[in-house]
Amino acid sequence: MHRIILDTDVAMGAPGSDIDDGFAMALAVDLADQSLELVTTVNGNTDVETATVVALDLLDRLGRPGIPVVKGAPAPLLRPLHDHPARDRVAGLRERLGGRAPAPGRAATAIIDHVLANPGEISLVAIGPLTNVAVALILEPSLSSAVKEIVVMGGVFLRTTSRLSMPGEFNIWIDPEAAAIVLNSGAHLRFIGLDVTLQVQLSRCDADRLQATGRPFASYAGRCANAWIDYLRAAYPRQGFDHAPMHDPLAVAVVSRPQLVTWRPARVVVEACSDITRGVTVADLLVSHRPPQPNCLVATEVDSAAFIEFFLNHVYSL
Ligand code: BDR
Ligand code: CA
Repeated sequence: MHRIILDTDVAMGAPGSDIDDGFAMALAVDLADQSLELVTTVNGNTDVETATVVALDLLDRLGRPGIPVVKGAPAPLLRPLHDHPARDRVAGLRERLGGRAPAPGRAATAIIDHVLANPGEISLVAIGPLTNVAVALILEPSLSSAVKEIVVMGGVFLRTTSRLSMPGEFNIWIDPEAAAIVLNSGAHLRFIGLDVTLQVQLSRCDADRLQATGRPFASYAGRCANAWIDYLRAAYPRQGFDHAPMHDPLAVAVVSRPQLVTWRPARVVVEACSDITRGVTVADLLVSHRPPQPNCLVATEVDSAAFIEFFLNHVYSL
């Protein structure tokens, strides 16, 4: 059994917000060979208060209200907050929860406590900015050897993107200093970057089918996916969006199915000084004559068809 902590900036259901963390949570709950033991929330796609409400709401919808949710960092380590969707957009979700609150404590200490109580057992899957993970590693350096591995959705390694406002990938861009701490921690790390996750897409047709299932989670998630695709279409009219990338579910899937992805050892560093290239990850794939010591595995290819089939088969039934 693969025992998991999911650290997430989940925003599914908050209008105009990304949905893939919600699908990642659903997959982690449903996989028979994974056990989701703790959810921690972090500022990123939305503010941490909203992420916490959304996480509680989704676990309710998934029939797993017993999984503890612990609130984490409200802001990056050093960087200012960027714009978030407004909190009042999730007022309806708060009402639905009827006052259910997160578990007491802070994400970083909850991560430390759970990992140290189960040394070598816990995979920490980080699908938002790495603030909580970095704080935990600073507070408790032995976390790096006690955690089984840290799987990160973050970075872009084999191709660059073309947005001047964010030349790298969102999770790393939001908190590059936190990413640097994680990369230097000595923990077993696997990184899945944007160049790979952009190859796994939920189509409009998949979203419609999910919506039509009538299943409690699947139909809600299908509705959210359609709303997100509509938003992407309106925000990026020239790109003709008719799909939504499933970045974060891939990070959950590879915990127990590493073969979905091809991995290469690499030395990865992150740009935290320049404003122009803030958060850009540079991967040395160790092809040089005297390669540096690797600090992680980096995903270089994905079997997208196999992943999407596997993923949808799980989500349809929820
Ligand atoms: C990452 O940023 C978020 O929008 C997604 O949830 C994913 O974690 C992709 O860059
Ligand atoms: Ca995310």
